[in-house]
Amino acid sequence: MAEQVQKPIIFSGIQPSGQMHLGVFLGALRNWVRLQETHDCIYCVVDLHAVTVRQDPADFAARCLSFVALYLAAGIDPRTSTIFLQSQVSAHAELAWLLNCHAYMGELSRMTQFKEKTEGKGEKSIGVGIFDYPVLMAADILLYQTNLVPVGADQKQHLELTRDIAVRMNNLYADLFVVPEPYIAPVAARVMSLQEPAKKMSKSDANMNNVIGVLDEPDIIRRKIRKAVMDSTVGITYEPETRPGVANLLTIFGALCDETPQTVAARYENSGNAALKNDLAELVVEKLAPFQTRYHDLMTDRAYLLDVLHQGAEAARQRAVPTLRAAYTRMGFLVP
Ligand code: TRP
Repeated sequence: MAEQVQKPIIFSGIQPSGQMHLGVFLGALRNWVRLQETHDCIYCVVDLHAVTVRQDPADFAARCLSFVALYLAAGIDPRTSTIFLQSQVSAHAELAWLLNCHAYMGELSRMTQFKEKTEGKGEKSIGVGIFDYPVLMAADILLYQTNLVPVGADQKQHLELTRDIAVRMNNLYADLFVVPEPYIAPVAARVMSLQEPAKKMSKSDANMNNVIGVLDEPDIIRRKIRKAVMDSTVGITYEPETRPGVANLLTIFGALCDETPQTVAARYENSGNAALKNDLAELVVEKLAPFQTRYHDLMTDRAYLLDVLHQGAEAARQRAVPTLRAAYTRMGFLVP
């Protein structure tokens, strides 16, 4: 137990919106699983973040629960890591308010993700939640005295903001928060869209041919990979700049069998596009099969999933509340 306390604390979260796809699986989840061996990991399903976009109340709870099953099926172990739903630990929303009162419109307006998501929209129709989203993310991270946050390139600016707010509040109220660092995984595959390999594979993509869902049936996976954009150059080489479609397939291939894309390219040097695609499709199907089986088994055991969440929320609350109380106290609130 004593040893566990000294491990660096990791916090990360995924929004339960859209479907989980291969990009998140290979770029994030797989690393989360590995980090459990060496770090004290807290993994959250960030449902409060998801409602910055309208969610259907009729299936939101079920989707949140299915994301918990996805975490577990991928190998996140509730006996080692803390797994919970953000909305079940009210300290997140509470700390977010305190942080809001120390964040500036100017810095939030500069977030590129905010600018992208609201491009072309008039101020009258932009939700305050979308604008304020990074402050809630900062609360998630700072509540747990997190040392390291595994994030993709698109979230680095949000982490910078988290650090800025933490330093600002540390200056005002004695050292309240650990100032977190980004965790850059030694091997994190950056999986791109299958049809438009210049952009990242995204769960909000309207074109489903761009995205391999981790729960896609084998024949769907085969069809999507068969349709993936390549080019007409003869032979397989790894050249992300000039041959992004080919490079993306090699990246996925390499990530699945723990090889570099260059090694895979060398093996297929004299092969045609179809050979690479066929082998990749079979590899994806084979690698996802045990994960899919575990997921479907877990989904038949609702009581177990609810129990994992119950215990996770309890553990998270115990860790979060001291930080929240310290913030209230040092800001001068009358704390009961
Ligand atoms: N903003 C992250 C995303 O959209 C999700 C997220 C919310 C998160 N809170 C977090 C990630 C805290 C890391 C740490 O991908």
